[in-house]
Amino acid sequence: MSLKFLLNDGAHIPWLGFGTGTAFYGKDATAAVRAAIETGVLHLDGAQAYRNEETIGQAISLSGAPRDRLYITTKLAESPSENSVKNTLKSSLKKLGVDYVDLFLIHSPVTALKEGKLKQWWNEMEEIKTEGLAKSIGVSNFTVEHLQVILEDAKVVPAVNQARVLFQKTFVHPYTWDTASSIYDFCKEKGILIESYGGLSPIFRATGGPVDPVLAIASERLSKASGNPVSSGQVLTKWLIQKGMVVVTTSSKVSRIQEALATTALPDLTTDEITAIETEGVKWHRRFFMKHVFNE
Ligand SMILES: NC(=O)c1ccc[n+]([C@@H]2O[C@H](COP(=O)([O-])OP(=O)(O)OC[C@H]3O[C@@H](n4cnc5c(N)ncnc54)[C@H](OP(=O)(O)O)[C@@H]3O)[C@@H](O)[C@H]2O)c1
Repeated sequence: MSLKFLLNDGAHIPWLGFGTGTAFYGKDATAAVRAAIETGVLHLDGAQAYRNEETIGQAISLSGAPRDRLYITTKLAESPSENSVKNTLKSSLKKLGVDYVDLFLIHSPVTALKEGKLKQWWNEMEEIKTEGLAKSIGVSNFTVEHLQVILEDAKVVPAVNQARVLFQKTFVHPYTWDTASSIYDFCKEKGILIESYGGLSPIFRATGGPVDPVLAIASERLSKASGNPVSSGQVLTKWLIQKGMVVVTTSSKVSRIQEALATTALPDLTTDEITAIETEGVKWHRRFFMKHVFNE
């Protein structure tokens, strides 16, 4: 039985989401998503902005996986092309070839905030949940201030906030922990689960930073303890899981998907290792995505 997190609306979300943005942004993700499903991934992370929802639909169909085995997320574009949030989701459902998504997220608060529509968008998201077009609803790239705006009148508290934590303000990886920890604490208090993306940034987007030696020491200890090689990426993934976050990652390689899936079976990081990742992480702030949201 693979690890799932409980959401504040009673639904369960598989801990590992396979991303179809970044490396697959605007590209055909059929082969990669099909390979991910066939390797054992249950949770697919899409978005209208990635312009490849049809290819996720094709992959699901080719894999033959039953709909109720999969957990499918899509996200509302910053500037929806349809005249309502519901219509834009209906277009996504058609492309994905499904009747509902498990999770629908507002991808970014920026446009809605600028146009004074953030609360209206959230209200429409709530209607979508009531109608069952999305089982759960949430947000992405929201700071504490953005969450406070919708929480003023919300009937439904967002189930998740997809963000990047380490090295960034909301992105979750060690080099955003300086600013991300406040949103992490706020979300925890409100029962909003954080989904991390860009979590592997320290090992390939921002190498040579202060977390590198901590990862190397932890991977050596875990390799000895488990009797198998444990990579720095798995140490980062383990940190995210132990912090109670869903991990949204991606790979063009089946071996890396297998490696990610195997992380849950590894021994836990010690409290000292977790503290060391965070203490070293806050020494170096590095943001790679959504700089406009955070005025950087
Ligand atoms: N909500 C948002 O605004 C937002 C923003 C960004 C991303 N996302 C979501 O999160 C997903 C994952 O994002 P991400 O790509 O930033 O995740 P990530 O987990 O930080 O990075 C995944 C990438 O890391 C590469 N990688 C893994 N291990 C590596 C290693 N040891 N050396 C070099 N490269 C390595 C993989 O390349 P290989 O193919 O070579 O394995 C893959 O392209 C996206 O696809 C999207 O669904 C959401």
